[in-house]
Amino acid sequence: QPKPKPVQPPKQLEPEFDDGKKRVTVFFGTQTGTAEGFAKALAEEAKVRYDKATFKVVDLDDYAADDEEYEAKFKKENLAFFFLATYGDGEPTDNAARFYKWFTEGNDRGHCFQNLKYGVFGLGNRQYEHFNKVFDLFFPIPSGKRLVPVGLGDDDQCMEDDFSAWREMVWPELDQLLRDEDDMTTVSTPYTAAVLEYRVVFDAPPSDSLVEEKHMANGHGVIDAQHPCRADVAVREELHTPVSDRSCTHLEFDIAGTGLRYETGDHVGVYCENLSETVEQALDLLGLSPDTYFSIHTDKEDGTPLIGSTLPPPFPPCTLKTALTKYADLLSSPKKSALLALAAHASDPTEADKLSHLASPAGKDEYTQWIIASQRSLLEVMAEFPSAKPPLGIFFAAVAPRLQPRYYSISSSPKMAPSRIHVTCALVHEKMPTGRIHKGVCSTWIKNAVPSSKSEDYSWAPIFVRQSNFKLPADTTVPIIMIGPGTGLAPFRGFLQERFALKGAGAELGPSMLFFGCRNSRMDYIYEDELNKFVEAGALSQLIVAFSREGPTKEYVQHKMMEKASEVWNLISQGAYVYVCGDAKGMARDVHRTLHTIAQDQGSLDSSKAENLVKNLQTSGRYLRDVW
Ligand code: 2AM
Repeated sequence: QPKPKPVQPPKQLEPEFDDGKKRVTVFFGTQTGTAEGFAKALAEEAKVRYDKATFKVVDLDDYAADDEEYEAKFKKENLAFFFLATYGDGEPTDNAARFYKWFTEGNDRGHCFQNLKYGVFGLGNRQYEHFNKVFDLFFPIPSGKRLVPVGLGDDDQCMEDDFSAWREMVWPELDQLLRDEDDMTTVSTPYTAAVLEYRVVFDAPPSDSLVEEKHMANGHGVIDAQHPCRADVAVREELHTPVSDRSCTHLEFDIAGTGLRYETGDHVGVYCENLSETVEQALDLLGLSPDTYFSIHTDKEDGTPLIGSTLPPPFPPCTLKTALTKYADLLSSPKKSALLALAAHASDPTEADKLSHLASPAGKDEYTQWIIASQRSLLEVMAEFPSAKPPLGIFFAAVAPRLQPRYYSISSSPKMAPSRIHVTCALVHEKMPTGRIHKGVCSTWIKNAVPSSKSEDYSWAPIFVRQSNFKLPADTTVPIIMIGPGTGLAPFRGFLQERFALKGAGAELGPSMLFFGCRNSRMDYIYEDELNKFVEAGALSQLIVAFSREGPTKEYVQHKMMEKASEVWNLISQGAYVYVCGDAKGMARDVHRTLHTIAQDQGSLDSSKAENLVKNLQTSGRYLRDVW
């Protein structure tokens, strides 16, 4: 029985319908590009396997302009995959935030997905409390619609392996859906992942030495992660006293005239630079001159895109030294795909075999031990395999990931510092299992930054602001409880500056408690004078400090909260907002338990009622966390 010819679709539909192919959409919610990379990898391989379908990779933010469009477009989707990262305090990525809001705030979004068969792969880290939480989202959709079990990528182990395993479950399902019966007998084309590679053009450097810097100037209407603006460092001060063996920096970026705006509680994204010693080492390993001037391209010479290209957008033309300084992540552990790229360019066959083995399923345990558990950096790995000298197009595409911006909770309020963004940053300086001293890329840059107040040759960085929902209540009379040990104090310094300014302008302020914690009152009690002044001025009602290394036993913020349990409970009963900022894995978890205990003891509630109360605080936006 011949099949009826497909009806010609009406003209206004997207061209994909015209060729009668089945359409598959691969959505991604990505922060640093990993989810996007997996989405593209799935689509690339699927294109080779199923020539009767089209695969489109879509950024969730670009998909729809508003709620109505989300609804209308999802209703038309038949087959889709979602790659969604969860990060921070169980939050979606910035580019998935609007989709997430639309999905969670509407009534029964499930009806928009009536026609949809789908698969979901989550990216998260099991060390965090809200591992892959973003996926709760899909529970209302009938499970019959799900093609494959939800894939849970765990960045604490090896996300690439999780993705590969999940992908193997996807193909049999797609075979059923995207192959004709007569086609089922044919063996699918084996897929060999295209090696990522930019086209590189070497050139003479321009005579104007300022050209590289001019590329950073923001000529765009917006300032965001893709379009940062240049901000000069105006002030840099050490916050710890000389007797402390650690370091914490107070830094002020001058944003006058940049057009950059921020609100108290927002985050600043900072593009920092690798230390020159790190860059020197990379230059040595690559065996190339620092002055090599080049540009990278994702298209062929005739302008057509490179086939199968899933490359990130290129950086501006520059010298190799600049490229390694600004754009290459040299200190993270290499991904398996990076090891394969190195293997392909190792002139010594023994080294090539060893690298391939590390990236293979058979080398899984070795990879976990030798790379992940020992936190071996890309440069350390390259030093072990000196014959592996990848060309630049491969190095920047497949070996060294792009250096990502680092985010800091802004520690000022625009009411006090309208033309400055303050950052409070603890220095990361740790001994790794291999014996390497890991110097945090951005915290070291911040510690060494030269302020314009001290020298003509001062430091600057490309920065941008990321909005947060970590905000003071709109009604200034509502009580607040702030818990922030260490650099967790940062956003609360902003809150207190804001309350100080509001009070100066005549506003009535509700009661406030700040629980701060540090090791020792003579070492790392940061902003002590300022905090005392906020108390004197009435911007802060109670300052409660836990010193963890002064007495015979550890005193932490949560112990102080227990001592003040009845006051904490009273304020919560009066409608207080509770804010927690700082370390997610230890402190925030312990503080959460303490809140639960306080609700149980003080409110005479059983455990499940206390849990509900804390949950309700969270869902009603009265318990906010800015944790990392
Ligand atoms: P410690 O280093 O003495 O253990 C800021 O880093 C402060 O937070 C320090 O005093 C640190 O104490 C403390 N801290 C460490 N772990 C914590 C936890 N789980 N809960 C609360 N505070 C903690």
